[in-house]
Amino acid sequence: MILVLHGPNLNLLGKREPELYGTLTLEELEEQLQTWGEELGTRVESRQSNHEGELVEWIQRAEEEGFTGIVINPGALTHYSYALLDAVRAQSLPVVEVHLSNIYAREPFRAHSVTAPAAKGVITGLGPLGYRYALAYLAALTS
Ligand code: DQA
Repeated sequence: MILVLHGPNLNLLGKREPELYGTLTLEELEEQLQTWGEELGTRVESRQSNHEGELVEWIQRAEEEGFTGIVINPGALTHYSYALLDAVRAQSLPVVEVHLSNIYAREPFRAHSVTAPAAKGVITGLGPLGYRYALAYLAALTS
């Protein structure tokens, strides 16, 4: 069972800067995640929060909740949240960081991820498909 976490402003997907993030809404992305999970033979649970602390708590509890891996798009928290970095480091589940846009092709501040060093790997710039590849990787680890 894989936990997919979406950080601040990702509830606005579809309406928010569609030239960067595409026209898929979060609800539609979540439907895609379910389909991909079924194809991969794994359950997927998707949660979004605009609050750093809530994301920290979900990461802290993921293992006891029975998840086997975490996919996270921390949104702008990627670039400054040491609390998220510490939360990922403090637990032992494999974590894949995903960004819809290519964070290296945008403003300079986005090119640095403070959370990435704690992740197994990072997928950036592949749009929604990035989540699919992250799920496939995590599913392969447990099969
Ligand atoms: C993002 C990139 C971040 O820089 C930005 O703050 C986001 C979305 C992405 O998915 O491309 O909110 O994580």
